Amino acid sequence: MFELSIVACLLSVIGASTQSVIYSGQGFATEYYDVKDPHVCGWSYDSMNQGNVACNPTIGLSLEKIDSNHLVAMNNTLLHTDLSLYCGKKVVVSVNGKPSSLPLFIGDGCGRCSSGPSTSRTWNPSAAPGIDLSHEVLQELSRDACHAGHVEISWEVFDEQVYEFDALTSSTAEVTIALPSPASEAQTWMATGSFASYTRGPCMTCVDNAWKCDGNVLEQCIGNTWTPRVTCAVGTSCQGGSNPYCA
Ligand SMILES: *[C@@H]1O[C@H](CO)[C@@H](O)[C@H](O)[C@H]1NC(C)=O
Repeated sequence: MFELSIVACLLSVIGASTQSVIYSGQGFATEYYDVKDPHVCGWSYDSMNQGNVACNPTIGLSLEKIDSNHLVAMNNTLLHTDLSLYCGKKVVVSVNGKPSSLPLFIGDGCGRCSSGPSTSRTWNPSAAPGIDLSHEVLQELSRDACHAGHVEISWEVFDEQVYEFDALTSSTAEVTIALPSPASEAQTWMATGSFASYTRGPCMTCVDNAWKCDGNVLEQCIGNTWTPRVTCAVGTSCQGGSNPYCA
C-alpha cells in the first residue's frame, strides 16, 4: 500500500508538470535518411546516414552512430539560434490534426524548412516550412509518403529532453559535411554552413506520360508521379487501362 501511494503521488506530480511548447508550425514533412533500412524505396541512404547532424557540432555525430530513426530535422536557421534550446527536445507531429505518439526528437537542421515564407502552404522541394524525417517515420505517418515524397503535417516541439547530445557548446566549430553524390535527378541537395540536409523526390512510380485508371479518375504520369487529370462524370467510370476514357 505504501509503495502504491508513492507511485500515485509521483504520477500526479508528472501529470501536473506542464510541458511548454517552444516551437510549432504547419507545413510539410519529407524524409532524408533511414538508419534501419538504408535501401528502402529504391534509394540508398548509406551516405546520408553517415552525415553528421547539426546537434553535435564539436565532436561530429552521424545519423548512423545515433542509430535512431526518430531524429527530426527542423528549420536550420532557427535551430542555430539556440542549439541547446532545441536539440534533443520532444517533437509531436500531427497528420490531419491527429498527433502521432512516436518518440521523436530534434537532432538536425533542414535547409528547405528554413527557406521561403513560414506561412507558405504550397509544397516546394527547396523552400517550404516543415520538418525532415526518416523514411520509416514518414511512412508511419502516411502510407502515401513513399509515392508523394512529402506529407502535410503540423508539429510541436516541447521543452522536454528526450535525447542527450554531447558537447552542445559551440555552433561555430568546424563540421565535416558528408555530401553523397545524388542517386537520381529527383533528389535535390542543400548544404549551407554546418549542416547537410536534402529532400528526396517522389519514388519512381511510373514513366512520364503514361496513363491509367484509378476508380473514376484518369491519371497521367507527370514527373514520375501519378497525377489525377480527369474525373469521369457521375454515372461513368474510367475504362481502357493504359489508354483510358470515361464511359
Ligand atoms: C526559419 O526560422 C527563421 C528564424 O526564426 C525565420 O526567420 C524563418 O522565417 C523560418 N523559416 C520558415 C520557412 O519557417
